Amino acid sequence: MAAVKPLLALNWKLQKGPRETFEWSRKLLEQLPEELSADLAVIVPAVSLQSAQNALSSSLVAWGAQDVSAHSKGAFTGETAAAWLAELRCKYAVIGHSERREYHGETDAIANQKVKAVQAAHITPILCVGEKLETREAGTQVEYTLRQLEVALDGVEITDEGSLVIAYEPIWAIGTGKTATPDDAEQMGNAMRGFLTKKYGADSSAKVRLLYGGSVKPDNIKALCSRQNVDGALVGGAALEIDSVLAMLNALN
Ligand code: 13P
Repeated sequence: MAAVKPLLALNWKLQKGPRETFEWSRKLLEQLPEELSADLAVIVPAVSLQSAQNALSSSLVAWGAQDVSAHSKGAFTGETAAAWLAELRCKYAVIGHSERREYHGETDAIANQKVKAVQAAHITPILCVGEKLETREAGTQVEYTLRQLEVALDGVEITDEGSLVIAYEPIWAIGTGKTATPDDAEQMGNAMRGFLTKKYGADSSAKVRLLYGGSVKPDNIKALCSRQNVDGALVGGAALEIDSVLAMLNALN
């Protein structure tokens, strides 16, 4: 674990609508300890953001979006502008999740535009990268993932801790129950930190939190997040139940 406080980001995907978001969040607050071992954020569907804000403002829990438009305005049916996420006080926006890449054709070049769009709205991008199984089996996962970063971070600046979070989510570990080992997560964390240090210098690189995601659960989060350059987790399935979230927070303590 790095010197910075870890970040536990709960990616609800297409799982909780506005009503459930509000009720779940209120229940969570009733059970949350007064001091948290990690920064905690719920990453909710766009239509649930208002509910998250209603339930969680003036609490320790932040909220964020699962995607954002690369554009600020115009004829882009179905899209959501970064400035509107800021109106709803989103702290984070996930960008380039592998499910967006697979089902919606997102590329690293699009992720690059989106990172810049949310930074301009003072929202922290959580940029997702990570390889498919065949790339891991070929042993080229580090080159592959750093290449994703190279394109997605082209022209992107780091000024403070809010500038950027990166989540390494190997696709073969998402929703499969197959977790990368702590060694795998650390190997990629070290490689990404090296990349950032070369690109931005050590001071700026240290401002970026590096998360691991892919079948993270209460019983493996501690082993993963106690490694160097694994500064937290982006969690899907295990983020849906309050007990599981509390257990993960406890494990990070
Ligand atoms: P799971 O935790 O369900 O594997 O999902 C990971 C993920 O995609 C988080 O963004």
